[in-house]
Amino acid sequence: MSNKKEYKRVTVKSLVEMKATREKISMLTAYDYTTAKIVDGAGVDVILVGDSASNVMAGHETTLPITLDQMIYHASSVVRAIERALVVVDLPFGTYQSDSKKALRSAIRIMKESGGHAVKLEGGKEIKDSINKILNAGIPVMGHLGLTPQSIYKFGTYSVRAKEQQEAMQLIEDAKMLERLGCFALVLEKIPAKLAKKVADSISIPVIGIGAGGDVDGQVLVLHDMIGMTHEFNPRFLRRYMNLFESMTNAINQYVNDVKSSDFPNAEEQY
Ligand code: KIV
Repeated sequence: MSNKKEYKRVTVKSLVEMKATREKISMLTAYDYTTAKIVDGAGVDVILVGDSASNVMAGHETTLPITLDQMIYHASSVVRAIERALVVVDLPFGTYQSDSKKALRSAIRIMKESGGHAVKLEGGKEIKDSINKILNAGIPVMGHLGLTPQSIYKFGTYSVRAKEQQEAMQLIEDAKMLERLGCFALVLEKIPAKLAKKVADSISIPVIGIGAGGDVDGQVLVLHDMIGMTHEFNPRFLRRYMNLFESMTNAINQYVNDVKSSDFPNAEEQY
C-alpha cells in the first residue's frame, strides 16, 4: 500500500513528515529552466541544484571550480521553472569552509539572488560553526556526509567511504550532530548500506541516499546519469532509465543527413 500524500508544494516540513509516515523521498538534480520544468512536472519532491553542475554542465573533472555566481545562475534558472518541488542549492567549495561569517554571506546570496529554498553543505563537525550561523539566520540546511566530492583531493579516490569502523563511528556522530544543530535532512553518499540504515534509524530527520542502499528515507541521482545522457560514468549504484546519449546522437545524425541531402526543410517547413 502506498503512503503517498498529495503535497501541493514540498517544504522542509513535508520531508520530515514523509519520513515519519514512511513515504520515500525522491530527489534529482537540475541546473537549468527547461530541464527543471520537466523534473518538477514529473513529480520529483526535491530538486538539487548540485555543484555536480561543475562536471555535467561545465565539463570540469571535479566539483571544485564552480563559483558562487555560477551556482546562483543555475539555481535562479531552476527556481523560475518549479511549481511544486523543494529547491536545494549546493554551497560551492571555498564559500563556507573555515569561516562561518563567509558561509552566512554565501548562503544569504543564494537565498536572495536565486530564490532557492535551502542550502546543502558537505561535512560534519569541521563545519559546525558555519552550519550554526546559517541556521540561525533562518536558512534551512541539508547536510552531506560519506563521500563528499569537494574533499576529493583529501580522499584521493571516489571509492566507498566509511568501510572502516573509525570512520563509520565518526559518520554516525556527525549525523547526530547535524540533527541536533537543526538540519532538516541529510544526504549520505557512497557508504555501506548497513551503515546508512543505522544512521537513518538513529535520527529523526530524513536521510537521502546515493549509493547508500535502499533502507534510507529517499534517493537522489544526478539527472544526466539516470537518463543516460552521460555514458562514461558507470558506478554500481546508478540505474539508467533511458539511453538519451544514443537517442540524441541518432536524432542529430539524422538531422545532419537531412540537411546535407536537402531533405530538410521540405515544402511544409517553410514560409
Ligand atoms: O552535486 C550533486 O549532484 C550532489 C549529489 C550527488 C548528492 O551533491
